Parts: sequence; structure tokens; C-alpha cells
Amino acid sequence: MDTVTAGLAKDAQKAGERVGLKADSIVIEGGKPLRGRIEVRGAKNLATKAMVASLLGDTPSLLQDVPEISDVDVVSRMLDAYGVAVTSPAPGELLLDPVNVARSHFETIDALAGSSRIPILFCGPLLHRLGEALIPDLGGCRIGDRPIDFHMDALRAFGAIVDKSYEGIRITAPDGLRGANIELPFPSVGATEQVLLTAVKAKGVTELKNAAIEPEIMDLIAVLQKMGAIIWTEANRTIFIEGVDQLSGYTHRAISDRNEAASWAAAALVTRGDIFVGGAKQQDLMTFLNVFRKVGGAFDVREDGIRFWHPGGALKPVQVETDVHPGFMTDWQQPLIVALTQAEGVSVVHETVYENRFGFTDALNDMGADIVVHRDGLESVTRRVPRRKLEQAAVVTGPTRCTAPRCGCRTSAAASATSSPPSQRRGVRA
Ligand code: UD1
Repeated sequence: MDTVTAGLAKDAQKAGERVGLKADSIVIEGGKPLRGRIEVRGAKNLATKAMVASLLGDTPSLLQDVPEISDVDVVSRMLDAYGVAVTSPAPGELLLDPVNVARSHFETIDALAGSSRIPILFCGPLLHRLGEALIPDLGGCRIGDRPIDFHMDALRAFGAIVDKSYEGIRITAPDGLRGANIELPFPSVGATEQVLLTAVKAKGVTELKNAAIEPEIMDLIAVLQKMGAIIWTEANRTIFIEGVDQLSGYTHRAISDRNEAASWAAAALVTRGDIFVGGAKQQDLMTFLNVFRKVGGAFDVREDGIRFWHPGGALKPVQVETDVHPGFMTDWQQPLIVALTQAEGVSVVHETVYENRFGFTDALNDMGADIVVHRDGLESVTRRVPRRKLEQAAVVTGPTRCTAPRCGCRTSAAASATSSPPSQRRGVRA
């Protein structure tokens, strides 16, 4: 185990034993700078999609650097329900054998899918393999309504028939799937993956406009190319896919998780620590690194990872707007806001990808942060990307001294400490 994890695990275990918490609780004793080395794991946003892609192959696939997360468990169980044999030949590896793929039932799928949204990506591969896909009542983390209209419209464009019933959504393709010209209303990551996973075996060429081009999408394209797919990208978010009749399995190491890397970077900043994140990739973190530097963080890019540290002195406030890649990723704003609670002055973070992604600020305010969420954004701020009307803004005033919240946990060690008490301006503005 690496230094950071070992330290956290030991402290958490001791604190947990003292307060009698269950094994699945996490106890954090704050007030200490985090120092040490940690290896970033394979990306959550690639691993699960690559697992689904294995359904398209005629032979087994081997995925390496698979993170131990609940979405991976959900997808493993879903694949198993469809007859894919999922085994782990070595730690962090999954062998996925799709030779005996077979139909499943709504009840099984519903029970297994839980709150994950990944099951929707089974549609294309299942339509190719079985001529039918069943979609459960979709969950996902609570960050807005998270509709699936782009997915369903894309599947219809390929020639699929979408039937909604009280059990869920049944999708069939009695005449097979044909390549299509699709333009997404927004560069959705999931909908782009849906199109890729469907188009690779559809008859003819698919042109996808306004596609998402996140690094995990490019890694999924790499997986599909290894399997035998023909895919190329052009300027202006356009992806072409030429359908092929047959795909084989792949061997692939997942791209490293840039959200995990950004979280460790923010942890180094907020605890005035020094963390080497093994496996972190500069190319995938460029936009984050610019903001990290503007806030006052220091980093050093090395061949095997990136060292992030607090160089001393005061942190500076910033204005940030989340966006699709290559913009500032929506998943980075949460760890960034934690760090911004320690910056001197007022920071503004605009969320433009999801309509409701500041729920976590309540917990930070409980700990002493000063964050006001403006549900309709801030009119005075000019929008760089006037793409959609989802403009929540979080205004973070710092630095504030953060301490453990009084509810739920009996430990009370101080977290990262600085000066003034939180003002009265916390909470939500409509
Ligand atoms: C993925 C990532 C998530 C990341 C997000 C944006 C995974 C497992 N999750 O989620 O970590 O925050 O990309 O980078 O890869 N939308 C529609 N209709 C649709 C689909 C999406 O309106 O049919 C909207 C969503 O409500 C949201 C926006 O498009 O407002 C972006 O969603 P999308 O890019 O699809 O996110 P996910 O693929 O679900």
C-alpha cells in the first residue's frame, strides 16, 4: 500500500474503532498535511464502457487497471446476467468472455442495475448480439434529471424501435442496424459512447456531429479499434464510424483516472501537503493544471506522474466555468471548491454541464465553509459558452476554518485550518 493510503487507512481504522463505526464507514481525522505517493487507478469513465464493449467481440477481452468501484461490480453482474463470464486472473484485471451471450429478463436487469446509468450503454451491443435490449429504470448519482433522450434518438436513427412499458424500455431492431447521420444537441459523453458502441457493427458509415471528445472517449475508440473497428475523428467534434461485420476481443490497460488525480491534487492544496500522484497524465489534466496554478498550487510533471504541493503563502481565488472537454471538467469542480474554501477572497464556480451539482456544498458549509449557491447563475458574469441554460454558480468566500461536522460522527479533529469564521452568507440563493 502506498504512503498516503496507508496513513489514511491506519488513522481511519483507529478512529473508527474508537467511535464504533461499521467497516463501510470512512473516518477522517483532519488537521494533517497529506504527504506521500499514491498510484492513480484506471479511469472509472473508461473501464465500465470497455467492459460493455467486450459484448461486441467474438473472443474474450482482457481489461487491466480496473478500479474497485461499485459501477464495475454493477457492470460485471449485468454482463454475467447476459451470459458473459467475468473472472479476475490477477488483481486489477478482468477477463470478459462473451462466447455464451444469452437473453435476460427485466426483473433481473432491474435488480442488478441499481442506481448506475451504465446499463443504458448495453443497448447497441445487445441489439447486435441478441436483437433486443432491455433498459431498466435508470438511476445514476443525483446530479439533475439526467435524461436519456439523446441515447434513444440515436438508437432510433440506427433503425431501432423503442417501446416503453411499465417494466422499462424494450429496444428491438427487427431489420438490423444501419449507419446514420446523427448530430447531438449537446456533446454528451454517454450519448457519444452509445453511438460508438452501436455504429461499429451497424451496416454502412455513421457520421456523428457535436460528439464528446473526452480522453476516456478516445480511449474507448482505441479499445474498439483493437477489436477491429474502423473509426476516425475530424475537426469540430465529428466522428466517423465505418461498420464492420465482426469484432474480436481486446487487451487494454485503462487510461488513468484524471478525476482521481485532480482530487489528490486538491487534497494536497487544501491540507498544505505534498502528494506525488503516480500515473497522472499532464495531457489529460491540462485545463485543471492551469487552474491549480492560478489558485497558487505547485506541480512538477514527471515521466511517471505528477507531484502536487502547497508551496506556502496564501491561495488565490479564481473564476471557473465547467465545460465539456477540453474545458474544465464538471467532475473537477467539487475537489476544486474544497481547495477554494482556503483561498483568500471570493471565487466563483459556474456549473454549465449539469443542472444540479452543488449538493455537496451543504456538507462543506456544515464544516465551516462559506459557499452560496445561486440556482440561476450570476447575471453579471459573461458566459463563455452560451450553450445551455444550466447555470448554477457557487460563490466561495475564503479562507474559512473548517472543522469536522457535528452530525453523524463523534470525532472532532480540525481539518485544514486558517483564519476567519464563516460569514452569515452561506446557503442557497434562488
Ligand atoms: C459522464 C461521466 C461523468 C461526467 C459527465 C460529463 C461516466 C460514467 N460518467 O456522464 O463523470 O460528469 O460524463 O463529463 O462516464 N443529457 C441529456 N440527454 C441525454 C444525455 C445527456 O440531456 O440523453 C445531458 C445531461 O443531463 C447532462 C449533460 O447532457 O446535463 C451531460 O451528460 P453526459 O455527458 O451524457 O454525462 P454522462 O455520460 O452521464
